[in-house]
Amino acid sequence: MIYKIAVDGPAGSGKSSLSKVIAANNNILFFSSGIFYRACAFILNGTDINDTQKIKSMLESHVLKFQDDFLIMDGEKMNQLLFTNEISTLASTYSSVPFVREYVNNILRSIAKDKSVILEGRDIGTVVFKDAELKFYLKASVLERARRRQKDLEKTSEKSNLLYLAKEIIKRDWRDKHRKMDPLKKAKDAIVISTRNKTLLDVTSEVQIRINEFLKCKK
Ligand code: DC
Repeated sequence: MIYKIAVDGPAGSGKSSLSKVIAANNNILFFSSGIFYRACAFILNGTDINDTQKIKSMLESHVLKFQDDFLIMDGEKMNQLLFTNEISTLASTYSSVPFVREYVNNILRSIAKDKSVILEGRDIGTVVFKDAELKFYLKASVLERARRRQKDLEKTSEKSNLLYLAKEIIKRDWRDKHRKMDPLKKAKDAIVISTRNKTLLDVTSEVQIRINEFLKCKK
């Protein structure tokens, strides 16, 4: 049986960590949509957000793939260059351009075609996989999310101040929730999971129970 799981939520809510574990435990494909928006931002950095023609030609001159947790651009592993604070802000800005969303959505749908997948992002349950069999929406406090972000940034040796990161997260939330096209919002049929004061194991167990219920019904 082929099924899709959509995981949405704001920046730093733990979507990727959860989705990776769920994918491994259920032997399904995991990939991130945010990393594609980050790659687009990397390519478009400095391009006028209103110049659709230029945006189109710049994006179409690259080949983006996702393999073993890496975003591969024209054959090169890009992750280290994509998880910086600058790219987070740029990704949130360029993701409001309709052509960028269309471009990313086409890639996401082609990767997921005919496969069981868990895909995480902002509009997976509302747009990309509107018909996903299971949808989750993750919630966590701004401070918890900023702490998570700080840990991630430490891995790439970028030092950041917690208060600064919290402010950046609030700004990014606002942009992601208020853009005209496909803003971040909970799908009506999504299950809300609060990650507040929970370990990754707590959250994955909670989600796995729902998946088991779904799989049992389909047998
Ligand atoms: O998940 P992330 O933090 O890597 O995403 C970076 C930015 O990309 C996010 O601030 C908004 C954009 N994004 C989006 O618009 N839609 C998605 N499905 C995923 C990410």
